[in-house]
Amino acid sequence: MYKIYPKTLFLGQIIQYLPSCQSTNDEASALIAQKDPAEGLLVITDNQTVGRGQRGNQWEAKSGQNLTFSLILKPSFLTASEQFWLNMAISMGVYDAFQPLLGEQLRIKWPNDVYVGNQKLGGILIENTLHGYGIAWSVAGIGLNVNQTDFTFPTATSLQLQAPLPNGYNLPGLLNRLCETLEQRYLHLRAGQRDALKKDYLDVLYRYHQEHTFEADGHSFPGTIVGVDDTGQLAIASQGQVRLFGFKEVSFK
Ligand code: BTN
Repeated sequence: MYKIYPKTLFLGQIIQYLPSCQSTNDEASALIAQKDPAEGLLVITDNQTVGRGQRGNQWEAKSGQNLTFSLILKPSFLTASEQFWLNMAISMGVYDAFQPLLGEQLRIKWPNDVYVGNQKLGGILIENTLHGYGIAWSVAGIGLNVNQTDFTFPTATSLQLQAPLPNGYNLPGLLNRLCETLEQRYLHLRAGQRDALKKDYLDVLYRYHQEHTFEADGHSFPGTIVGVDDTGQLAIASQGQVRLFGFKEVSFK
């Protein structure tokens, strides 16, 4: 059960807890389709059986050991082409909650993976329902590896692996904090504080301003991340020019 009392205006004030479900993003989308849910409603499960990730991947999380939840938001202040601002706000909300526990090694890997060193601690899947040029609804799905310590993928890690506690982490306690930091970032975005958000995002961006090998169109090339444009494209300086890449168009080698 998730009885939490976050100090928020709306985010996490209503919680729909499901002991088990296929995907909290799907459950949140079904709520949107059926009725007019309150903004900030949070769907959480202990056991997500068909968790979905970006690029059609699966999100695996052992039952009862991690945080798998989705937030329902109504970012009507963003147009469809401004979706990436929400990705940055949600990424930074997660960052703010975990930074005191993990320190400097915590990073956001473009577009919105949560990394510690070179390993993935969490992922975010935001699915928007557009209405004309605007965004009517957003489902922000967040998966964070907390107490799980063995993973199929060697690149996966967890809070307990990175900063162990004798009895592991209290999941509702972490969720409580996340509701507060996520709402704070969301409210700042809603109030138009975009420059500060972009600056904070770039400050914690994985491999920002570091020479690295990337891959696009089946070719590897050396480059340096120099920014992110307002639509979320990654700007990589390579061989004297800056190239912009959309999601799925470039990968880190
Ligand atoms: C990724 O890195 O590929 C994104 C992973 C997102 C996983 C979360 S877990 C809660 C929510 N429900 C889902 O089915 N996916 C997201």
